[in-house]
Amino acid sequence: MTLPEPHCAHNANDLSAVESRSRWYKKPMLDFWQSLLAALERLAMLPSLIHSVLPSLPSRKRTRDAVRTHERPMDDLLREIQRLLEAPLDPEKLLHMSGRLQDQFSPKLQASDICMLPSYNHKLPTGREQGTYLALDVGGSTFRVAVVELNGQQPAAKSMRIVSMKSFKIDESVRQLRGSQFFDWMAERIETAISDSQLKNINGATTFPMGLAWSFPVEQTSTRSGNLLAMGKGFRATEDTLGQDLSELIMAPCRKRNLPVRLDSIVNDSSATLLSRAYEDPATRFAVILGTGFNIAVHLPTSTLASSKYKGYPQKWRDEATHVLVNTELSMFGGKTVFPMTRWDEQLNEAHVRPDFQPFEHMISGRYLGELVRLIIVEAVRTAGLFGGEIPDKLSQAYSLDAGTIAALEIDESKNLANGIALFQSRHPTSRPPTYNDIHFVRQVSQLVAHRAAAFLAAGIHALWMLRTTSEGLTPETAGKMAIGCNGSIIEKYPLFRELCQSHLDELTTASGAEPKSISLEVAVESAIFGAAVAVCCLEA
Ligand code: GLC
Repeated sequence: MTLPEPHCAHNANDLSAVESRSRWYKKPMLDFWQSLLAALERLAMLPSLIHSVLPSLPSRKRTRDAVRTHERPMDDLLREIQRLLEAPLDPEKLLHMSGRLQDQFSPKLQASDICMLPSYNHKLPTGREQGTYLALDVGGSTFRVAVVELNGQQPAAKSMRIVSMKSFKIDESVRQLRGSQFFDWMAERIETAISDSQLKNINGATTFPMGLAWSFPVEQTSTRSGNLLAMGKGFRATEDTLGQDLSELIMAPCRKRNLPVRLDSIVNDSSATLLSRAYEDPATRFAVILGTGFNIAVHLPTSTLASSKYKGYPQKWRDEATHVLVNTELSMFGGKTVFPMTRWDEQLNEAHVRPDFQPFEHMISGRYLGELVRLIIVEAVRTAGLFGGEIPDKLSQAYSLDAGTIAALEIDESKNLANGIALFQSRHPTSRPPTYNDIHFVRQVSQLVAHRAAAFLAAGIHALWMLRTTSEGLTPETAGKMAIGCNGSIIEKYPLFRELCQSHLDELTTASGAEPKSISLEVAVESAIFGAAVAVCCLEA
């Protein structure tokens, strides 16, 4: 999923509050989000923004023509969508959802082999560790192999640096590779990457120490090994390999190719993000991944999890560890007992290859935001005459609307949405070009879907923050400040997503008694790849 870089045209006629917030988008992009947030904060807009992204709906006059021959007027449908998607966003309702999530955590902390998974990493990095490592990052759509240099806190040197990196696309054909075929594919890519001259000599060693960030659940059996658990995201690599040792699955084809590599560490990508962010900021205790998939890792007292969760852990580990890095697999929590489901959430779940497997992810991650908007568009075409009653090309197929497309519509500031209309028409043509009203409708729906996702994410973070606070014997009042490392295309790049989530989070934590701004969401760029290396260097420290 590629999210667009925002651009900066400006339409002075467009006066809705949502659209006026986007006037602050500016080039160049490097410090784009910081300046946007600063501008919004100066105007004190965020508090009101989080209560409604659509304070004013388009007038009946504008939509009247389009609806004459359909079941219901477009603005009537839009009002219903707004009501359904915004109703759950009051702080009291979000706090209630957080409470229900906390109820769901308890049994899973006692027993579950697919979520609340402890790792073998118990200490966080000091930030002084040094070395050069081969880092592997298997994501939902890319496999990356990089040489990463960790420099500790040396003056005039970046603390972490990617010396070189090769990126390999994981397309549908790779996702379809079954069992060991997928791991052969990985070994072949590792071979290509290390044949690059820059990778020839790591620390003068003859064998490259490797760390793996794995964006799927794994049941760790040591720092360097773990049993393969069910993979989501459309992968078939677990066919005939489920429960087998991931390290051996990767190393066997590497040995067959005589590759000079050694897999020293396996961590989930959320744990990798936490480790990489903690390397730079010791106040980090949480990490959020929100891109194609969704997850949160937390550093918790070991006693938060039942001792049966540490089955097979060596006595030395049990004696030394006071805390443990936990992969919560938060995507697997939620569902209708926590979050109110709309008819579009239900349709998405019913049509899913694994219904109910990752219900939280279905409401907030990049793979599903576009799909929810698509389902609403299809209904609007059929019942309210959107796009003149014609389903745009491909949009009758599931997952054909990319989060990148809706993000581009959200940041469009061209006059009368001319750019958005052109973009939509190029990706999803119709026999007559979409009108302003069509694209304006899609954009408002996207804002509502994304805003709900940001608020639900805040409820999820709040729930885990409460868990950690009580596990540490603290209260919200005494919990102090904490940084959360954030990685993934949605939380890093989707227009205003992180800012909205932060605002809801501030509201929820202060309502619980914490000091204002006690949690800050910080972007952790390239953290999966850096974290894979940090995990190896922590073992050596
Ligand atoms: C999915 C996976 C999880 C991963 C997350 C983010 O939810 O189950 O292990 O961390 O995506 O990539």
